[in-house]
Amino acid sequence: MLCSLPFRVAAVEPVKVTDEGRVSSLQMAVKLGQEIFLDTGLSRPVGQACVSCHLPSAAFADPRPVSLGAIKGRTGRRNAPSLMYAALIPSFAYEDLFTKDGSEVYAYEGGLFHDGRARDLFEQVQQPFFDHNEMNLSGLADLANRLRASAYAAEFEAWIGKERWNDDSQLTYHAFRALVEFLKEPMFRPFDARIDDYLAGNKEALSTAELRGLEVFRGGGKCADCHFLEPTVWTPALLSDFGYDNLGVPSRGEKDPGLGAKIGAEGMGQFRAPSLRNVELTGPYMHNGSIATLQEVMEFYNRRDLETERWGSTDYPETVNREDMGKLNLTDQQVKDLVALMSAFTDRSVKEQKSGQRFPKAPVGIPSTTAKRLYFPDWTHRLHPAYPGLPDEVPVSKSERAK
Ligand code: HEC
Ligand code: HEC
Repeated sequence: MLCSLPFRVAAVEPVKVTDEGRVSSLQMAVKLGQEIFLDTGLSRPVGQACVSCHLPSAAFADPRPVSLGAIKGRTGRRNAPSLMYAALIPSFAYEDLFTKDGSEVYAYEGGLFHDGRARDLFEQVQQPFFDHNEMNLSGLADLANRLRASAYAAEFEAWIGKERWNDDSQLTYHAFRALVEFLKEPMFRPFDARIDDYLAGNKEALSTAELRGLEVFRGGGKCADCHFLEPTVWTPALLSDFGYDNLGVPSRGEKDPGLGAKIGAEGMGQFRAPSLRNVELTGPYMHNGSIATLQEVMEFYNRRDLETERWGSTDYPETVNREDMGKLNLTDQQVKDLVALMSAFTDRSVKEQKSGQRFPKAPVGIPSTTAKRLYFPDWTHRLHPAYPGLPDEVPVSKSERAK
């Protein structure tokens, strides 16, 4: 695993472009981000792209419990999550929060990857390329050379100019930024599930079983305590509070410390609560893919502590949350209703992708990235060259440093 990232935030260099240039620059970032996302030439050996483990038909998750790497026989230990709404996951933070009874607690939240080890999406997209269990490139120069040999090389060079194109660190930096812009696209945040219709006031949007499920979700199941139904400042429900918890999910062998790798003992076995949007399409479940179906997930929440044999050992029993789950006393019918509810969380545009269509088509009326740029967790990325006219955030290259 890569410990130090090539880029965090760096030097400032003003770029002046007209309004027209601004738009086309963002569009080019998105287009190149998509090319990179699909490019199987950016792995060693070649053959693997982001899309190999993040399948559009599975809401950009991986239907396998763990993904296979570019090198035959290598796997990671975690289940690849959906990329839907990933651009809206808040940056990693230690926040003071107010609970329902008004008391103040400090808690970790946000960050990318199941354990939040990437502060934000920009840090995240840099890692798969160099992870030995994933795309396995040897370093920035390797990535830069492959980009220079790609089918979209000419467009990329025209976008960033010759000097940056010839500089490995500048070139790869722009590739990472392009991926981030791509993942912010409206098709990744359509908010066109039936739960959105329901929460927007259409009471007919849910079936009677789903309505009963929603009652359990808000009530006895306590689900909505962590999988929020409230809208955010500008989005409908994301169905997560992005907080961390150890649910005590079944072990898959080697212990996985999760957040504990970052914060020590109290975080052992804790993972970030995922959004439940499109969860029907993203099985198997939990950070390690250890639970196969939604029916089993619900049974696990309901009876974990009453059926210890069934669920087997967990990696860090000492930090398991025993207050909010494990013996919920739900009836079989309530468990079934919760499962039914999950299909109301599926975005129509994702589910109804036509065969032969590469990506879901965002419904009309979804705000553009430009219109909402200040509301993305990485809003300082307006400093991105895709928004020229503002100071750029590009790292200083060796030759520039020498000047
Ligand atoms: C070999 C399979 C594989 C490939 C290739 C791959 N990923 Fe992933 N991706 C994963 C897995 C597994 C995780 C979860 C890892 C973890 O939490 O440690 C993940 C996590 C992510 C996340 C975090 C989502 C979240 O909810 O925190 C994003 C974003 C992401 N990948 C984007 C990409 C992009 C962009 C690429 C291409 C540059 C890519 N992935 C290539 C398997 C893959
Ligand atoms: C205390 C917070 C909390 C509560 C309460 C809670 N969850 Fe979760 N949920 C999480 C966390 C954290 C994870 C990820 C755990 C992991 O991967 O190890 C998760 C994972 C899931 C998953 C798997 C998603 C995926 O993509 O793998 C589903 C489904 C789910 N929860 C549904 C529910 C339902 C339904 C309820 C109510 C019965 C509920 N949750 C209650 C925090 C919570």
